[in-house]
Parts: sequence; C-alpha cells; structure tokens
Amino acid sequence: MRLGAANSRSWHRDASVARPVTSRLAGLVRRPVIVAPMAGGPSTPRLVVAAAEAGALGFLAAGYKPPAGVAEQIAAVRAGTDEAFGVNVFVPGIPTVEPDGVRRYLSDLEPDAARLGVGLGEARFDDDGYEDKLSALIADPAAVVSFTFGCPSAEVVRALQEAGSSVVVTVTCPEEAAVAVAAGAGGPCAQGVEAGAHRGSFTDDDTWRSDYRLVDLLETLEGVGDVAVFAAGAVMLPSQLAEVLDHGAVAAQCGTAFFRCPESGAHSLHKAALADGRYATTAVTRAFSGRPARALVNRFVVEHPGAPAAYPEVNNATRPLRAAAASRGDIETMSLWAGEGYAKATDRAAGEVVEWLCSGSGSGSGSGVASGRGPVS
Ligand SMILES: Cc1cc2nc3c(=O)[nH]c(=O)nc-3n(C[C@H](O)[C@H](O)[C@H](O)COP(=O)(O)O)c2cc1C
Repeated sequence: MRLGAANSRSWHRDASVARPVTSRLAGLVRRPVIVAPMAGGPSTPRLVVAAAEAGALGFLAAGYKPPAGVAEQIAAVRAGTDEAFGVNVFVPGIPTVEPDGVRRYLSDLEPDAARLGVGLGEARFDDDGYEDKLSALIADPAAVVSFTFGCPSAEVVRALQEAGSSVVVTVTCPEEAAVAVAAGAGGPCAQGVEAGAHRGSFTDDDTWRSDYRLVDLLETLEGVGDVAVFAAGAVMLPSQLAEVLDHGAVAAQCGTAFFRCPESGAHSLHKAALADGRYATTAVTRAFSGRPARALVNRFVVEHPGAPAAYPEVNNATRPLRAAAASRGDIETMSLWAGEGYAKATDRAAGEVVEWLCSGSGSGSGSGVASGRGPVS
C-alpha cells in the first residue's frame, strides 16, 4: 500500500509513507529513523546529538537514572544541537505476585554471585522515580517524551502536551495501541518481538498477546487513528526500513543498529559480542530482570530459564551480579541485550548508519543490502 505525493494534509516527507499524519510528532520526524532510547549506558548525549545532526530523532534513556542525571544529559544534548530530541521514561508496574518464586530464583543465583565475589541486591520494588521524572520533564520539556512498560494516564499525557512535548507510548499488541491512543498519545511505537532488550508490554502476564512480529503488528494498527506510528524491531537494513514505512509507520525506531556506533556508551565487550560470531542466536528471557527481554544466548540465559515474573525486583537483585560481571569482563554473565538482527550492526558512526538506512530499498550500488551486510567498514 503505497500512496503518492503529499496533499493538503501533512504527510511524512518520505513519499513511500502510506499513513497521512497530522500530528505535531510527525513534523518532528525529518528522516524516517529514530535512534532508540537504550537505558543502561548505550544512549549518550553524543549519540543523540549525532542522530539529530544526521536528521534522525534521537532519544535519551531516563530509565535507571536519577532525575539529576537525566537533567545533566538533557543539558549536554542541548549544548550539542538545536535539533529536537526525545526522552524515554519507564512506567512503573505493580509489585510481583510471585514472592516465593523470587526467593527460589535468588537462591539459584547464589553460586553465580559467589563466583563473582558479590552479594545479590535486595529484591525490592521501585517506580524508577516516575513522578520526579515527569515533574522535571513538565517543568523543562523535551520535544518528545516516550514511555515503555505501560501507558501514562490521560492527565499525564495532557500535562506533557501542554508543556510542549509530543507523547509516544511503546505498544506490543493492538489492545495496547488502543489504550495509548485513547490516552491521547500522538504516537504508538509498535515494538515487534524481534526487538532488542525489554518488551515494552503494559503488563507482565498473559492479559494480551505479546509476541507479534513487527510487520504483523503494524498491520493491526492500520485503523488506529491519525497518529504517527514508530516501528521497532530488528530494522537493520534500508529494505527493512522501506518495508515498515510501506506498512504505515512514519519511522523505524532502531536500537541494535546503533548499539556498536562509536557514540554509543555500551560496554566494549557487549559491542564485540554482537560482531564476533560467538553467539548464534538471541532469545527472550526473564533471567536478568524478571521481565521478558531479548538477549544473546549466553551461559546465564541457558542456565536460568526459570526466572519469575518479577520486575523490577529481580532486576534490583541481580544488579550487583551484572555490574561485577561487566567490570570483570565475564561476558557469560552479562545481560547482552540484542535484537534479532544483531549480526548486521556495524561500528560506523551513527550519522553514517542513519544515512545508510535511508539510502533506499536495496537497488543502490554499494549499499550492502544485496549481501545482507551493513555499510562496509
Ligand atoms: C540495549 C538496549 C536498551 C534498550 N533500552 C530501552 C529503553 O530504555 N527504553 C525503551 O523504550 N526501549 C529500550 N530499548 C528498546 C528499543 O526502544 C527498541 O524497541 C528496540 O531497540 C528495537 O529493536 P532493535 O534493537 O532490533 O532495533 C532498548 C533496546 C536495546 C537494544
């Protein structure tokens, strides 16, 4: 379904986009690439500035960070560019209903902790400073505020919009998209099951189906309303970008494609693990955090298939373990988040990756698409 040139409504500037979108958010998408928020290190102000300077929309990741740290990063981006950028916030869930499962799981992890010479952390619930982060973002708005792990209330959406921000909500099924649109969000970010790191599902149970592949999910969103749909999940090639635009998205939100860039603050061993061929595949696992997330299948994933549904309790408990593994270079115990397309990630500068993704659907010479490779290093 391709439509032609723009009419009186505001169309995305890529002519292949099928959905007419009038939202303010669509106007912020200069090129159809979003550099995904990646909490835990990869998202740096430098990466966001590089994205912005290349015409993409970059995101800071507020997850796991204290509000002061987020404010510092926002200031650093503003010092580097006048272009629009976004900030991503985690929506808090509810305390686990499986406390016994958590206790059992943590005792399974004791040998790993002992081997690394650390104790496990407290399996406590927290809201990742949600209210404080919202207050700070309302007082000092970013162009876009996106959410994952749930949908903010309509009041929160309105307050952010009145402050001047567009609001995006990560969705993994049509039911979540309907909730996000009803709350007033200008953009659902459709996240297919191929995507790297945590599933953005609103609940961590079986309320709704959460295993849609990206294109199937986009197809369910065709009648969702006049909103700007972002498409997330293993978009690594120009042809894949063209495909999601063809399915009505205004842009692809790519994480793994930018993970190895020099501007990404990811751990060097994690960057290398995407490229060196030692891991044959990814899987969705709760082993590290208690919430489903896609990671390279290392020893820790294989040995701990039985983690309970308990986010952020398990995440807080495993934090010292993951930190010790990262500082000692114990790659088999690190959480090696990656989308299904990880083998195609390159170490080129973020601006070059944006350029390459936008370079066409594969007919251009030298794009690397025919071979399935990324831009040649
Ligand atoms: C290392 C990593 C960390 C991520 N952290 C966040 C995050 O903090 N917030 C969020 O909304 N999405 C996060 N995501 C998911 C992305 O927004 C996006 O859905 C995903 O990267 C798309 O799949 P891809 O990695 O195959 O491109 C993360 C992804 C990765 C790879």
